Amino acid sequence: MTQLRVAIMADETGWHTRQLQAALRARGAVGRCVDLEDCDIDTAASWHGLAIPGFGKELPDAVLVRGIAGGSFEAVTKRLGILHALRELGVPVYNDARAIERSVDKSMTSLLLRAARIPTPPTWATESEARARRILMREGAAGHALVLKPLFGSQGKGLALVGEVNGAHHALPSLKGEYGHLAYLQRFVPPTQTPGYDWRVMVIGGKAVTAMRRVSQHWVHNVAQGARCEPTELTPELARLAQGAAAALDMDYAGVDLLPSHGPDPVLVVEVNGVAAWHGLQKVTGFNIARAIVGDLLDRKLASAERERRA
Ligand SMILES: Nc1ncnc2c1ncn2[C@@H]1O[C@H](COP(=O)(O)OP(=O)(O)O)[C@@H](O)[C@H]1O
Ligand SMILES: [Mg+2]
Repeated sequence: MTQLRVAIMADETGWHTRQLQAALRARGAVGRCVDLEDCDIDTAASWHGLAIPGFGKELPDAVLVRGIAGGSFEAVTKRLGILHALRELGVPVYNDARAIERSVDKSMTSLLLRAARIPTPPTWATESEARARRILMREGAAGHALVLKPLFGSQGKGLALVGEVNGAHHALPSLKGEYGHLAYLQRFVPPTQTPGYDWRVMVIGGKAVTAMRRVSQHWVHNVAQGARCEPTELTPELARLAQGAAAALDMDYAGVDLLPSHGPDPVLVVEVNGVAAWHGLQKVTGFNIARAIVGDLLDRKLASAERERRA
């Protein structure tokens, strides 16, 4: 059998891509890093019309999506289009573009979690500042603050606490600029202790495999915002909710963010990351995440694609 060639789609190379390449090598496969920005559509060059650097007229045997850079609406549409096309051409894409789209759009994530009956804080998305302010007033009257998030945000960037917070009123900021004229608002879940924390659970191939706590004084507990990673037990409750969330978005692998709460639901899912980083988590767990991702890609995803091709 010839060596399997996997395209690792990444906008930057470093620790994660090296981990994946080493895990692929250990399985006798080769991982080649490709930036989606450098992938073209060229309908004159080959039967499939894609130009993937390093693959000539061929297609990769599988694709692992590790990073997609932001860009203009047009550029991102093309990048996701390449991933959609690869799937349509029968190449297993891990995570598939549809799953990535669902998770990048936080409002779609909220809807799908709600539809799957996964506990998540009440959430609103509106283009109307007047309606956003009315939601703020109504929630404030019921004693709730709100979190305003950029719809496509990541790494805890641009999050703002609005409404009644510790007796002070925080007005809704302008929705121009980073909010893109859209108010994505979510009921604030107050910390259950000081310092507060949330959980990150890694789900691979439908199974929660490892978890950590992210602890910080600030209520935004992203590692990129300075939160400390701590090992924690993956309880059956965390595993069940994280697996449910990953399944609701049809993810091959996902980094699921969960919050503890003193409300009726003791654990709430706030985010499902379809292009999750795992450097912080790997530091506090003995479980090898890259090896598990590669194992699931080759043994489940690629194997089932091959079965389909033969059928
Ligand atoms: N509704 C909320 N209530 C309390 N804290 C929240 C809420 N939403 C988010 N956070 C905090 O902010 C962090 C970042 O929010 P998240 O929705 O995961 O966006 P990002 O894509 O930027 O990671 C969460 O991990 C959590 O610590
Ligand atoms: Mg998050």
